[in-house]
Formats: sequence, structure tokens, C-alpha cells
Amino acid sequence: MSSPVIINGKEVAQSIREGLVKEIAALKEQGITPGLAVVLVGTDPASQVYVGSKVKACEELGIYSQKWELPTETTQEELVELIHRLNADVRIHGILVQSPPPKHIDEEAVILNIDPRKDVDGFHPINVAKLVLEDEEGFVPCTPQGCMELLKAYNIETAGKHAVVIGRSMIVGKPMANLLVSKKANATVTIAHSRTKDLPALCRTADIIVAAVGRPEMVTADYVKEGAVVLDVGINRIPDETRPRGYRIVGDVNYESVKEKCAAITPVPGGVGPMTIALLMANTVKACRQLTR
Ligand code: GUN
Repeated sequence: MSSPVIINGKEVAQSIREGLVKEIAALKEQGITPGLAVVLVGTDPASQVYVGSKVKACEELGIYSQKWELPTETTQEELVELIHRLNADVRIHGILVQSPPPKHIDEEAVILNIDPRKDVDGFHPINVAKLVLEDEEGFVPCTPQGCMELLKAYNIETAGKHAVVIGRSMIVGKPMANLLVSKKANATVTIAHSRTKDLPALCRTADIIVAAVGRPEMVTADYVKEGAVVLDVGINRIPDETRPRGYRIVGDVNYESVKEKCAAITPVPGGVGPMTIALLMANTVKACRQLTR
């Protein structure tokens, strides 16, 4: 097999951002500035990094942002009260509560309090329904939307292809499967999970594999059919004393072995990761447009 196409998420994310800069400039001409509120409860180090990157992206694009870093002990009621304030704040068009929250917080109940028109994560049941109904006014979770944009940017055909999505989370696996099976993409989709029997054999029937399980380097060459496309959604920190921070980041795919077999692959970092933030910015601009029209 010749060497695969290395899907450059940084580059595709950059071109999405350039489109947004123009759209934001046009909104500003009308006196409108898109605004995003990012809420983090607790001190999870990875979440702190993600939240910081989201706010930085807003600054780079000229999106107004608020960063709310609340202590771990914040109660459900306090968090919901903040969300109600953000729902009512006309400067804010998008609200994101970083997942996962501390254990005492009921995430689903919190999400129900976000105005669906400001739910730029696409986690509210109204937006989940709109995705299934293929109603384009709704919000689609950023990471799976980013995966679809990568397939589009690289002209990777999905119609009639067999896609295996590994993972059934509400953040990635389930919305990913819905996007792939939609009338826009027309893939035939299998959702695999921890109880799936003989996962490697199933994956070997896939033309497209989306790995979103959160298990470092689980998908090895043995899972991959010659010429398949592999999207790696995993961001796993594994201890590595040779690195300044004491860890390195790997995906859910064993890149070195899989790259010998596949036609195209997303690296970690630099693949799906940058797309998530670009699509969050895109969803914020979309929310702003829809709320101000
Ligand atoms: N945690 C990991 N990914 C995400 C995401 O896309 N949105 C939120 N809110 N939390 C996350």
C-alpha cells in the first residue's frame, strides 16, 4: 500500500475560520457581535485546556466571549441560575457547559435549562431531535460535524459506504452515526460499543472507521481493511517521562500500524481536534444569525 493521505485538520479548520472572519465582519457592519459563554465547573486539567482554547479562538475571530470558571462545589441550582442569566443575556448567542461536570451535577438536567437556540454544543434534546429529523436549523455537536467537514474537504465519498462508528456517546458516537446515515451523506452505518462481538472483524468490513471510544491506541492494523479511511476522535493523555509535561497525547488509533493499511487517516494531534473548535465558532455565528434575524 502506498502511504496514506494524512488529513490535515489544522488546515481545514483554518479555512473554516477564514470564512467565519468574513461572516463576523458582515454581522459587525450591522452592529451585531456574536457572543459565546463557556462554563467550566471544577478543575479538571484537560477541561481547563479545552475551555482556554475555546475562549482564545473567540478572541482570534472577534467573537465576544465570557469564561465562567466555577468551583467544584458549585451546586446544580447555582449552575442552572447562571444558565438562566446567560439565556437572558442579549450579548450571548451560544452557551457551552464543558463536559464532564463534577459527579454531583446532573448534566442532562443542566442541559435542559440551556435555551435550545443558544445550545451550540447540540446537546439539548430539541437539537438531538432536529439532527435526527435533518432539520438544518438545529445545532449539531461540534466534533462529529468536524469529522464530516474533513470528509468533505478531502472529497471522501460516503454514499453507499459502510461506516463503523466505535463509541455511542451523545457527544460523538450517536450524532456521528446520524450524520453519516443522513440523506446528505447516505452511508450505511454500524455503531459499535463495548459489548460488540468481534470488533476487529466488524471493523474490517468498514470503508470508514470513526474511533471515538477514549481508549488509547485501541484500533490497530488488525481492525482495518486495506484502503479504508480512519478518523481518530480520541484525545488520551498517557504518562511519558521523556516529555516536559510528563505525558503525551495519543488517539484511539494506533497510528503507526494503521497508516500502513489505510487510504487516509487523521493524526492526533492535528486531525479532528482543531475541527471541534472551528465548528464551535461556526455554531456560535449560526446561533447569532438565527437569534438576530
Ligand atoms: N467535552 C469534550 N468534548 C466536549 C464538547 O464538544 N463540548 C462540551 N461542552 N464538552 C466537551
